[in-house]
Amino acid sequence: MKKTKDIVILGIESSCDDTSAAITCNDMIISNEVSGQTVHKAYGGVVPELASRAHQQNIIPVVDLAIKNSGVSIDDISAVAFTRGPGLLGSLLVGTSFAKGFALAKNLPLIEVNHLHGHVLAHFIKEKSVETKTPGFPFLCLLVSGGNSQIIFVRDHLDMEVIGQTIDDAAGEAFDKCAKVMGLPYPGGPLVDKLAKEGNAKAFVFAKPKIQGLDYSFSGLKTSFLYFIRDKMAENPNFIEECKADICASLQYTIIEVLMTKLRQAAKETGIRTIAVAGGVSANSGLRQALTDASVKYNWEMHIPPFKFTTDNAAMIAITGYYKYLKGEFTTHDVVPFSRVSMK
Ligand code: KG4
Repeated sequence: MKKTKDIVILGIESSCDDTSAAITCNDMIISNEVSGQTVHKAYGGVVPELASRAHQQNIIPVVDLAIKNSGVSIDDISAVAFTRGPGLLGSLLVGTSFAKGFALAKNLPLIEVNHLHGHVLAHFIKEKSVETKTPGFPFLCLLVSGGNSQIIFVRDHLDMEVIGQTIDDAAGEAFDKCAKVMGLPYPGGPLVDKLAKEGNAKAFVFAKPKIQGLDYSFSGLKTSFLYFIRDKMAENPNFIEECKADICASLQYTIIEVLMTKLRQAAKETGIRTIAVAGGVSANSGLRQALTDASVKYNWEMHIPPFKFTTDNAAMIAITGYYKYLKGEFTTHDVVPFSRVSMK
């Protein structure tokens, strides 16, 4: 039951291939529904047009379920927050249009949310009966997903700056594309992680990028991996089958080394020791171990959110909406989605 001063936000996320709706009451999540899309499995990656169509089918049932499971009445909702971008334009259009329609019908304020901002604020989602230790400001957030690899300097809930980012592919893309070269299904990241556990991370050496400053690059690794597999398969057609675990372990080790090198550099340059991680790739067990090891070695205070809040979800959109609501940051109905945008 909503108290008079409670702020109840309906969050909508539809930037890629997950349709999600969530309800927050102040900074507490009270429901979070996610509907994935299996239709892409056959194509080795997300097919934008199929994603938009699936969002259209899923959006109403998912929102309906989120409201029902929250226990709040539709009339208790204070505002609608939605992902404006970055992401796939057709997918974003579905969530944006739905949010606008809902807000108009219920005469509610509309709040646009940058998807990357949402990933960072996932660290501030509170759950009933779960103790949450939120990071203190300022902190650094390593945001690693299928579409982004960034180091973000977070000064406050609504004040953050990207201090390093990929100049080409994202870390998740490197996992997925290399996995595809090995014949693994999409998304390859979780499979590489699983196979890597049985392999030797030092079995093969892949070239690491030499990029200035705090920026990342993963396209060179992807190309050198492709040539490596092609050459090895020419020598031994069973190479992938025979060495799968070692290849995955070595690939994962390289990606993590690249991510950690710049993160260590960022911590050193800024003097910040509160470190958070966000995005789908933060589910990677090797990365989690590397972060845990670094936190012991460098005396970092590490923040790793629960798995369900690292992948795409509307809870992070609703919580960002809550903080924007407090500051009166609303948007108008002529707002349109954007496919590409940085945080600043
Ligand atoms: O944040 P996210 O759910 O979605 C978008 O980026 O849109 O991230 C998905 C990415 C994919 O590239 C997937 O392969 C990767 O996260 N991923 C992983 C793991 N779990 C998900 N990569 C490596 N190891 C994992 N365990």
